[in-house]
Amino acid sequence: MNHDVIIALDFPSAQDVYAFLDRFQDEKPFVKIGMELFYAEGPEIVRQIKARGHKIFLDLKLHDIPNTVKSAMRVLSRLDVDMVNLHAAGTIDMMRAALEGLTREDGTRPLLLAVTQLTSTSEERMQKELLISASMPDTVKHYAQNALQAGLDGVVCSPLEAALVKEACGPNFATVTPGIRFADSAADDQSRVMTPEKARLGGSDYIVVGRPITKAADPVAAYRRCVKEFVG
Ligand code: C5P
Repeated sequence: MNHDVIIALDFPSAQDVYAFLDRFQDEKPFVKIGMELFYAEGPEIVRQIKARGHKIFLDLKLHDIPNTVKSAMRVLSRLDVDMVNLHAAGTIDMMRAALEGLTREDGTRPLLLAVTQLTSTSEERMQKELLISASMPDTVKHYAQNALQAGLDGVVCSPLEAALVKEACGPNFATVTPGIRFADSAADDQSRVMTPEKARLGGSDYIVVGRPITKAADPVAAYRRCVKEFVG
C-alpha cells in the first residue's frame, strides 16, 4: 500500500492555486481538488494541475441513481485523475455502476473511494435525523464493507476510524484521512484531529492536509514536515 500526503487545495480561484503551487520547485505534491475549486473553474483546472505533474484526488462525493453516477464517472475518468470518490449511502448498486463508468477502455481507472459517514455528522444526528439506529462505528464499518463488496479501493474516513476499517476490510483496503494537525498547530474547525505520525500508526494510508500547510508561513517547509512525520 502506498503512503502519501495529499494537500487540500481549498482556494477560491485558479490564480490562488497557481500562486500556491509555484512555491513548490523541488517536489510535486499529491493534491486534492474539492467542489469549491471545481465548480468555480471547471474541468480545465484539473487539466492544468495535471499538466504541471501533480497527482490529483478529485473530491466531488457523487451520490445519485446508478446510471447517472456511471455516466458522470465516465466523464471523470477522461480527466486522468488519480483518485475520485462517492457516498457509500448511494448503495452497492450505485458503487458498482460507478466503478464500471470509471474503468477506461484499456482497463485502467483512478482509485475509487467511498465516504462512509461525513465526520461533520454526529452519532446523535445520524440516529435522530437519518434514522440510522446503529452506532457510528458500526455504521462506518458496515458502509466500508459495502464498498469493499462493490469492488471499491477504500474509504475516506476519520483517522480515528482507520484501524476499525482495516480490521473489517483488510490491509489492502485504502484509508484516506482528513482531520490532520501537527502537535503544535491549531485545530481550526476540526473537532477530532490526529498528528501525521499517529495517523500512520493508526492505519491511515493517505492523509489529507489543508490549513496546516496552505496557511503556514512557509508551506513548503510545512509540507516537508508532514511527509517526514507521516512517511518517515
Ligand atoms: O484544512 P483542513 O486540513 O482541515 O482540510 C481538510 C480537508 O479535508 C478539507 O478539504 C475538507 O473539506 C476535507 N474533509 C474533511 N473531513 C471530511 C471530509 C473531507 O475535513 N470528513
